[in-house]
Amino acid sequence: QELQMNLEQIEKGGYDHFMLKEIYEQPSVIKDTYRGRLLANKGIIQMAGIEDNLERFLNADRIIIVACGTSWHAGLVAEYVIEEFTRIPVEVEYASEFRYRNPIIGPKDVVIAISQSGETADTLAAIKLAKENGAFVFGVCNVVGSSISRETHAGAYTHAGPEIGVASTKAFTTQITVLTMIALRIAKAKGTLSNSDFHRYLQELEIIPEKVQEALLTNDKAKEIAAVFKDAPNCLYLGRGYNFPVALEGALKLKEISYIHAEGYPAAEMKHGPIALIDEHMPVIVIAPKQGHYDKVVSNIQEIKSRSGKIIAVVTKGDVQVRELADYVIEIPDTVDALSPLLTTIPLQLLSYHIAVMRDCNVDQPRNLAKSVTVE
Ligand code: G6P
Repeated sequence: QELQMNLEQIEKGGYDHFMLKEIYEQPSVIKDTYRGRLLANKGIIQMAGIEDNLERFLNADRIIIVACGTSWHAGLVAEYVIEEFTRIPVEVEYASEFRYRNPIIGPKDVVIAISQSGETADTLAAIKLAKENGAFVFGVCNVVGSSISRETHAGAYTHAGPEIGVASTKAFTTQITVLTMIALRIAKAKGTLSNSDFHRYLQELEIIPEKVQEALLTNDKAKEIAAVFKDAPNCLYLGRGYNFPVALEGALKLKEISYIHAEGYPAAEMKHGPIALIDEHMPVIVIAPKQGHYDKVVSNIQEIKSRSGKIIAVVTKGDVQVRELADYVIEIPDTVDALSPLLTTIPLQLLSYHIAVMRDCNVDQPRNLAKSVTVE
């Protein structure tokens, strides 16, 4: 027993929980993920699985992304990035829905399956269905040699290393990294991004690990905010554009590990329902970086404030407008719009972590959840 405890302590590398260790590993694993694939100075992005099948992507009528849970959220981010950069239509589907609804798939479709474990039963079944219908299936997995990595025609691994915490953190950000690189590579081949934009994105992606490192400095602030809101029964997360999926993921993280009911919404949809929930007891986490519909998000914040909601805003360093309205602000570094999920996600992971710890929850092994869901 004692030996077991010590082993676990060593594996946690000085952190109290695997989840916290994995949150802090993100700068280095994002680097591992793009190492050898992204050569910003030379203007090169290369991934064997993409190079070997470039024609498939260039001729694709559309891309269908299938995944579950957090991986599905990474798929939503990818939808925004791939459509923006490559102009190829993208659909994102829950694997569990896709597999049972007799979907329209054909040989000119490219299906991207995203899975940390590479073992999720529904995702595996969706892949089999897509293959039977002649689609080209590309996997984005973390676990090397996993079932999904074997069942797909080609793929690209996220090099996040083992993820032990049931709530996914570093797998999510490395999935976004790989999918962004895929979008950039296709965009280059299709000529859908200007040269200057292409190079700017490459350069920004290369320095993103340093900015993630800086975003981790929000830990103290996240802890302070966690102490205030740890007993809230509900929580709302709002974001727009690239940060709408981040709002969903922020809410999922909180639900998973703290058992607080949380919902993520596209900020503009607030007026179609969630606004009815807002009163002085409702914490609303608003993702409001300088890039991306900033002014519109500011007006959402004003609407929340006028209904006495408690506002926790994730903003770009140096922001003044939101600071005046919000009860709490968390500052993250500036980056290009498309990469902002890699930064805005970080304080939300930390916030959920601290709330769960303060509520004495089993952070690494939340009740009723499994790390990989191999049954449907
Ligand atoms: C489970 C895990 C989640 C994960 C989801 C999909 O629900 O608890 O963290 O996002 O499965 O898993 P996958 O391994 O396919 O990414």
